[in-house]
Amino acid sequence: MSQMDPKDLDVVPAPEELPSSLGGLMRGKRVLMTGVANDRSIAWAIAQAFQREGAELAFTYPGEAMEKRVRPLAEGIGAKAIIDCDVSKDEDIDRSVAELRKVWDRVDVLVHSIGYAPRGALDGRFTEVTTRDAWRITMDVSAYSLIGLARAFRPMMPAGSSIVTLTYYGAEKVVRNYNVMGVAKAALEASMRYLAEDLGQDGIRVNAISAGPIKTLAAAGIKGMRTMLGENAAKTPLRRNVDQEDCASAALYLCSPLGRNVTGEVLHVDAGQNILGVVSME
Ligand SMILES: NC(=O)c1ccc[n+]([C@@H]2O[C@H](COP(=O)([O-])OP(=O)(O)OC[C@H]3O[C@@H](n4cnc5c(N)ncnc54)[C@H](O)[C@@H]3O)[C@@H](O)[C@H]2O)c1
Repeated sequence: MSQMDPKDLDVVPAPEELPSSLGGLMRGKRVLMTGVANDRSIAWAIAQAFQREGAELAFTYPGEAMEKRVRPLAEGIGAKAIIDCDVSKDEDIDRSVAELRKVWDRVDVLVHSIGYAPRGALDGRFTEVTTRDAWRITMDVSAYSLIGLARAFRPMMPAGSSIVTLTYYGAEKVVRNYNVMGVAKAALEASMRYLAEDLGQDGIRVNAISAGPIKTLAAAGIKGMRTMLGENAAKTPLRRNVDQEDCASAALYLCSPLGRNVTGEVLHVDAGQNILGVVSME
């Protein structure tokens, strides 16, 4: 391992294969997926895993430009609805509920896999690049949207249903250049806990998956991501990075009956990165 070229470290495979089937773990569940942008999206891996396990799926996308990318993927997987929903607009969220009601009378799982920060906010000194606008937009799209979606879809969610969101370690500790997105992820995780307490009385569970760094469209906007992937893989306790399928496995656990008594939890899927303090590279 120590002889490996650092640029190859992000592809060190896990020693075990994932099972190809879990026997229909999500059979009959109706799942609303947000956050698919392309076939590298974490949400896309979750959608595929849920579908493989018997779930019915519906998808949202924010605006026409994204529709071109999302529609072919969603149609290819037999989506029951494909809905335009920019989560920064209340009217879009409300219309999404109305549109989904045309095909489904309930939603069993809501996957929130959305993050956005304005250009420039994730590159440079925190003091300088965290403008009022960068703060407002990042917090609104990346954190408030979980609450907005939960409020809107709660009436469609029966007891036993669940919500899962995606977060990152930058919520807990400082990760250089993650900047205001780290602040938004901290707000997202706190919101997840408040929602879990509030919606628990309705039998709805709310959890978060804290994923290690993965090469996706959203991640490409973070300065130094490539270097971080290499360094991260060398340092994590498992000496590798995670991938989209690892997040999908965690989502299967949290959103299926396997997770029936788990709520308000941040499940780290990060090859153990979050347990580390100072790591010597000797
Ligand atoms: N990739 C990583 O390293 C990593 C690690 C930990 C957590 N995450 C989180 O995982 C989630 C998914 O990101 P990803 O890495 O799969 O990248 P991605 O770019 O594939 O997904 C981000 C999604 O957010 C959506 N989005 C942005 N603004 C929106 C808006 N106004 N309304 C509705 N949707 C909007 C985009 O359309 C896109 O589908 C994000 O919350 C991200 O912060 C990613």
